[in-house]
Amino acid sequence: MKTQILQAPDGVAQIVEALNAGEPVALPTETVYGLAADALSPEACAKIFEAKTRPLYDPLIVHLPSLDWLPRLTSPTPTALALAEKFWPGPLTMVLPRQDIVPDIVTAGQETVAVRMSAHPLFAEVAQHFGKPLAAPSANRFGRISPTNAAHVLSELDARIPFILDGGPCAHGIESTIVHVSKDGLRILREGPITRDDLRAFAPLLESDISISAPGGLKSHYAPRTPLVLEKLPTPRSEKTALLAFNSPREGFAETEILSPKSDLREAAANLYGAMRRLDEAGLDLIVAEEIPEAGIGAAIMERLRKAAAR
Ligand code: TXA
Ligand code: MG
Repeated sequence: MKTQILQAPDGVAQIVEALNAGEPVALPTETVYGLAADALSPEACAKIFEAKTRPLYDPLIVHLPSLDWLPRLTSPTPTALALAEKFWPGPLTMVLPRQDIVPDIVTAGQETVAVRMSAHPLFAEVAQHFGKPLAAPSANRFGRISPTNAAHVLSELDARIPFILDGGPCAHGIESTIVHVSKDGLRILREGPITRDDLRAFAPLLESDISISAPGGLKSHYAPRTPLVLEKLPTPRSEKTALLAFNSPREGFAETEILSPKSDLREAAANLYGAMRRLDEAGLDLIVAEEIPEAGIGAAIMERLRKAAAR
């Protein structure tokens, strides 16, 4: 199979046609690129797992074309409705009790389903034309760095999917916040662009417990192939050490990527995965990543870096 990168607006019709034929296609979202397929078709969803080499125990996020799908796929609590009202479309994924219509392959057999609505205009356009929910995990091979532009998707999934819809670079650059919503409160399963402070106003934030932690929340994830270590004051180990810096360079590194020269955490998040990929491709022995402030979206960046460092 040859993978084609399509441009909007012309490519949209071809993308919708492929989805109707049960094929998975890569689409831009405001967080990272997703590999989307018909969420109500177990066969179409199976092709997502196959293309990503993703284990079947790791459930998929379902993206809704419109809010009226929320009660069709889940049992939303009043808090869930309030969160949807405030943050959708946008980078918040809610884990809620599922309805029977959701295929088991999507939820990995769990009684909950993860749902969100993407704010990316091209994703929204495709979803509306398709008219049904789209299951869409990040468009990378399992365990690898999420793609934040069409070229990244091609390097991950070339010859494994028919189409990539090019929507340029992703605005946030890291995956959505995942929150488990229950009557007693909210449990953050993955940090992201919607922060703890954003969520606290809606319900008490509870400690996550293992039984509901994201199955994809494996300790090692988002990993470059080059070993990565996380340090407060990075130092080079050899001539073949790369630096992933927050705001400024340091002496003695073979390659350097700076996430945000002006120390802007949102800019750092948007640049994170592209910078990790470039350093990974430099063919060095080690990447030393500098710790960054854990305020706001900084917590989500540090969560990604810790996972990239865990082996
Ligand atoms: O920003 C995003 O969320 C991107 C874009 C494409 O929407 N999607 C994304 O999907 O990051 P993925 O599959 O790479 O990560 C989804 C995570 C996985 O770790 C999975 O285990 C978790 O969500 N998840 C899915 N369903 C769940 C459920 N019912 N309960 C707990 N965790 C769940
Ligand atoms: Mg992923």
